[in-house]
Amino acid sequence: MSTTTTYDGLADEAVAQIDAASDLDALEALRPALLGKKAPVTLAKRELGSLEPDERRTAGQAINTARQAIETAFETRHNELASSARAVALEAERLDLTEFQRSSPAGHLHLITQARDRLEDVFVGMGYTVAEGPEVETAWYNFEALNIPEWHPARGSFDTIFVNLGEPEEVMLRSHTSPVQIRTMENQEPPIYIIAPGRTFRTDTADATHLPAFNQIEGLVVDKGITLGDLAGTIDEFVRTFFGAEVKSRLRPSYFPFTEPSAEFDISLPDGSWLELGGCGMVHPNVLRNCGIDPDVWQGFAFGFGIDRLAVMRYQLDDIRELVNNDVRFLRQF
Ligand code: PHE
Repeated sequence: MSTTTTYDGLADEAVAQIDAASDLDALEALRPALLGKKAPVTLAKRELGSLEPDERRTAGQAINTARQAIETAFETRHNELASSARAVALEAERLDLTEFQRSSPAGHLHLITQARDRLEDVFVGMGYTVAEGPEVETAWYNFEALNIPEWHPARGSFDTIFVNLGEPEEVMLRSHTSPVQIRTMENQEPPIYIIAPGRTFRTDTADATHLPAFNQIEGLVVDKGITLGDLAGTIDEFVRTFFGAEVKSRLRPSYFPFTEPSAEFDISLPDGSWLELGGCGMVHPNVLRNCGIDPDVWQGFAFGFGIDRLAVMRYQLDDIRELVNNDVRFLRQF
């Protein structure tokens, strides 16, 4: 019987199993069965003793060849699996050192805030301080102390937005910054030189020239010997500083319950026409009295105008609503 033939295919089955191992652990698990004490190649060697000497040499060589083939297969498969495992790990642990973070884009102050800051600067430069008051007011501050009693028709012209807090107090979103005049005079002894910028509210529907929430800036001076000339000079000085030396101002007679006499103030446009900016006047004696200030000793003037309208004018905007649309393409321009 020819045993050599038997040993020829000895490695085939083992090599097929090795090649099929799907990872390094599976491969190592095969090693005892394919090369260990009970592996076919090991057992075959033990049988050699029972063979004829010349058969033994041929068979021995076949067994060694098979064992070597198995060992080589182990090594080859090991290298294959190890390198693909390394590739997987490498991909998983990948660190892209070329990655960079864009710095976050810096914003800037809103057009209205810029205008308010500039207005404050102009008046602070003239010796005024900045005062503030609440956006929600009572009838006393928004109307009564300002010489607008309940029956007064002017009360209707403010298109006030009321807050429903029930009786007894009438509470509202302030319809102008003039309440800050009262709050300041109640808390501060004259002489008073203040400006009060802030948000104000009216029932207006938003359109190209109106916003229901808008910004005003109020000015108040209370001192001895203050005249209408001081008011006109102050407006003139402010207009030149803010708009440029070539821009003129004028006062036009008007009516406000809290000032007497009262005026609208206009600024000159390059084409020679005039544009209305705000209201002003000498503080009404009743208003001073309401705040415990003696009108025979102290006089004052006050003025107020819209910051949003001022910005619309200065930057020639087509529509005041652009100020609140929050479109960065618009806001970025200023
Ligand atoms: N408060 C007035 C308004 O909103 C403006 C004004 C302020 C008028 C101060 C005179 C004096 O219309």
